[in-house]
Amino acid sequence: MKKLWLIIFFIPVLFAGAQQLPGHAIISGPMLGQVEMRTARLWLQVSTDISSVTLKYWKEIQPEIGSRQMIEENIKGVFPNEFHTVNFELNGLDVNTRYKYQFIINNVIAASGSFKTKDLWQWRKPAPDFSFLTGSCAYFNEPVYDRPGKPYGGDSLIFETMAKDSATFMLWLGDNWYTREADYGSEWGLWYRASRDRAQPVIQQLLKAMPQYAIWDDHDFGPDNSGFSYGLKDISRNIFMNYWCNPFYGEDQKGTYSQISYSDVDLFLTDDRYFRSADEMEDSINGKPNPDKHFFGDKQLNWIEDALVQSPATFKIIVIGSQTLNPYSSEEGFYRYSYEYHQLMDFLNRTKIKGVLFLTGDRHHSEIIKLERPGNYDLYDITVSPFTSGVAKVKGVEINNPFRVPGSLVEKRNYAKIGVEGKKNERILKVQINGTNGEDLYKWSISENQLMH
Ligand SMILES: [Fe+2]
Repeated sequence: MKKLWLIIFFIPVLFAGAQQLPGHAIISGPMLGQVEMRTARLWLQVSTDISSVTLKYWKEIQPEIGSRQMIEENIKGVFPNEFHTVNFELNGLDVNTRYKYQFIINNVIAASGSFKTKDLWQWRKPAPDFSFLTGSCAYFNEPVYDRPGKPYGGDSLIFETMAKDSATFMLWLGDNWYTREADYGSEWGLWYRASRDRAQPVIQQLLKAMPQYAIWDDHDFGPDNSGFSYGLKDISRNIFMNYWCNPFYGEDQKGTYSQISYSDVDLFLTDDRYFRSADEMEDSINGKPNPDKHFFGDKQLNWIEDALVQSPATFKIIVIGSQTLNPYSSEEGFYRYSYEYHQLMDFLNRTKIKGVLFLTGDRHHSEIIKLERPGNYDLYDITVSPFTSGVAKVKGVEINNPFRVPGSLVEKRNYAKIGVEGKKNERILKVQINGTNGEDLYKWSISENQLMH
């Protein structure tokens, strides 16, 4: 009888709590960010009416092990206040363990989900097999600010297809949102675009299904093909850091380059915008490469080289927004930055570092470019694009590009699932290109033994 009284008493209280939560309290998320062996990051954006966000989490098999709370003061202070991104780091977690979580907003349970920490396999068992999803160029139409005519974006259901495709994590390869003319002239405009695109209902399931990592390219950095001279680049960097949960962002508060590691694979997430000279800057002076025409910039290039030498990984994937090894492209590419391109290529030739691959986006089609190197293994550039923006069919000399792996050209909206599997010393990296509805568009694989001298 006493229990019944309690239930009756609490029903009105529960309803009162529910009424305090605005209908759109969560603008976007929850998004799963970086997940390590003993830490995990969870992200969301809440509306300005919200005064309290609490995150509770517990082991799936042992409930209520811990909780973290972030109160009003902590979720204010992101300028402009209109864009309340909230980022929690959970620590002290156990390895290889599934946790459940709940977001409690203004005392009401508003979202829930789960994640699993990485396994501690080193010195104990073989490198685990795993896979990740990747791709570039996500365009969501907003006609009042878009170019007139045929909508550029389409088929956003690709993100629901990806959410259902099991993988260990997701890597966004740049142009993850497209700033428009109405956006990139002001700080508010840059925040607006990130906020508006992140809030698209069609991507929410993917954001919480697996950890999300990202690099940027020109459109989520600023104007088309922009770089070093873009005056709001530090604001763009701040927004990027507020909307993603990468492990770190450049050095000395400059750039966004970072690194992630899964199993026996290292991924070097580079920044091809912050330090980049204009594409049209003269590439050579008196027949010599122009040392003042930068792509990565000296500091980042030194970091990439040092990180490659340090890396014990079977596959070392250099992730870049712009395509890298394609001499036939008339579009943006690292190849057109002779000084730094040759510096990196000479470094790779000299050091004979094993297992290097490039993973790039931007081109609005997918393909694999192969660069043969005398006396060394062939280098590959795997380009994956676009998710939802318009397809750009290759034209002119690029139609029969001799550097393209035959059959690898995909001129449809697509994403890639990249898997790494196999026994020690026989690890294989598999690339599966899928269409909007998950249809098989292309397959390619390479063994670690093909990526050594
Ligand atoms: Fe781009």
